[in-house]
This record gives sequence, C-alpha cells and structure tokens, in this order.
Amino acid sequence: MTAREAVAVAHPNIALIKYWGKRDEHLVLPFNDSLSLTLDVFPTTTKVRLEPDADADRVVMDGAIARGEVLRRTTAFLELVRELAGRRERAVVETRNTVPVGAGLASSASGFAALALAAAHAYGLSLGAAQLSRLARRGSGSAARSVFGGFVVWHAGDPDAPDPDHTSYAEPVTDARLDASLVAVVLDAGPKAVSSREAMRRTVATSPLYRGWVTDSHADLARMRTALRDGDMACVGEIAERNALGMHATMETARPAVRYLTSASTTVLDEVRRLRREGVGAWATMDAGPNVKVLCASADAEQVAARMREVTGVLVVVARSGPGARHETVTS
Ligand code: PMV
Repeated sequence: MTAREAVAVAHPNIALIKYWGKRDEHLVLPFNDSLSLTLDVFPTTTKVRLEPDADADRVVMDGAIARGEVLRRTTAFLELVRELAGRRERAVVETRNTVPVGAGLASSASGFAALALAAAHAYGLSLGAAQLSRLARRGSGSAARSVFGGFVVWHAGDPDAPDPDHTSYAEPVTDARLDASLVAVVLDAGPKAVSSREAMRRTVATSPLYRGWVTDSHADLARMRTALRDGDMACVGEIAERNALGMHATMETARPAVRYLTSASTTVLDEVRRLRREGVGAWATMDAGPNVKVLCASADAEQVAARMREVTGVLVVVARSGPGARHETVTS
C-alpha cells in the first residue's frame, strides 16, 4: 500500500482565562472553561507520513530525532489516532517549531493542534472541527484551542455526562468585537524546571487557593465574554491580568511550591503598571514560564513593545490575532 502523508500548520494561543488543573488526567478534562487568543506568530508545521513497514513511530523535532518524553507523548497520541481510524501502520512525524520549546509560549498547543490535523488526515479520518479539537486536547489541553483562530473558548464539559470526553471541546468566540494584540516579552527561552502537567497535579492536590480560583474563573469567563462582545479592552485586560495572577498564586501556594515567575517577570509587571498609570491600556498575563505577554489594543501594540524593549533589552514580539490550524500542501 502507498504511504499516506499530510502536513498541517498551527499557531500557539495565549489564554486570557487560564486552564490550570485536570479533573481527569487520562482524558485531559479540565476543571474550568478557558478562553484564549490564537496568535499570528511562532507557527508549528508538522508532517505525518505513514510507514507500513516500520515497527515503531519515529519523531524528528526541529531536525533532531526525538527520544524520551517527546517521543513517548507523540507515540501515545498516534496510538489514539490509530485506534480511532482502526489502522495499525506506524508513522514518521517531522515537526518544526518557530517558538522556543518549553518557554511558556505554548509550543505544545501549536504542536498538538498541528499533529492532530496532520495525523487525522494521514490516517484517513474525516473529523469535524469539534472532534478535531477534542482529539488535540488529548495531546495537550491548550491544543484544543489552537484548532481555531482568534478568540476561542474551551468548554470544560460535563463531568456527569455518560461520555464526558464528548462534551469538552473548543470553539471560536464569534461575537467578539475587540482588536487586541499580545506583546510577548521573551525573558527565558530555556526548558522549564517543572512541567505544567506536574505543576497542575501539585496545585490541584495541595493548594488551599485552588478551588476559589476555579470558582472565580467561571465568573471571570462570563464577564469576559460580555466585555469581548462590547469591545471593552479595559475590562478584558483587567480580568485577564487578575485571572493570571490568581493562577500563579495557586501554584505558589502548592506544596512544594511551583514558581515560574522570576525577578525579571516582576520588572515587566511593574512596567505594565507604570504604562497604565501613564494612561496606556496594557495588562499582563503569564503562563508556565517567566515570560510575560502584554495584552493591549492593537493600536497601542507598537508603543507597548517599544517600552518593553527599552526596559528589558530582551526579545519582544508583537503578536496579533492569528488563524486556526490548517492543511499545508505536501511539497516533498
Ligand atoms: O496545555 P498544557 O498542558 O501545556 O497547559 C497549559 C497551561 C497554561 O498555558 C499555563 C494555561 C493555558 O490555559 O494555556
């Protein structure tokens, strides 16, 4: 049989209402709904080629043969796809990231969204958008959102449904009327010391603040949807910054504590506050790493970026609203 292959591209997304903590580790079902903006920078391109004669999957990431955790997670994901497709062929996965891996800039989101689309196609599965989002979710929770462009909401789903897996997927926020950008301040591009998976586990199990943050996130999300509909940048920004700081408070109160933010992150947070005092609408959000993403109206993005460059001297990238995962024509 001739080998089938497919190529897909996906972009990272940054959550404005965070996903933090799973109620089902195996199915990757979160405790709370989350809401994000898909970016137009740092795409991941992934090619999946079926190898009928191979007896193991092979993964090449950014030109190097992957082993360890990357290989294990990719193979486990391909197993899921094979199960869905009722096929057994192994595959070669070649993936190219343009975002620093493991730096809290969501390479796992773009990575698993691109892999889900390419692998589904290579194995002959024809999936609707919600099905594709559910599949991507199994690779990495936040990947469920990178299937779509612009503002996206990921439903935590119904834990009491007969099949909860079917109820947890992302979809675009179609009534958002806000032209927002995220200015990424890349303070550290190295891999993180504690994986988000382990940090989430620890937070859920030991942080006294966790339940309260989940409850707040439900209210935050409802208010943010209204603010997006109203085009209310200040309201979206305030909710996003508070939600992110709340998430970091849950992990800093876990045992043992997880701290991703550094003194450099704090310097950026101080500067964001200074910008606000000067009348510039800018709000910070941070993920599982020290980098800070500054949310602002697109019209203010260059001004915000210039200030961040001046203060930090590090790489600062302006990201705007980007597209959902899409197929790429196979060229080789
Ligand atoms: O998808 P994961 O397992 O890498 O988790 C990502 C979690 C955060 O980036 C910190 C928040 C989010 O909602 O993206």
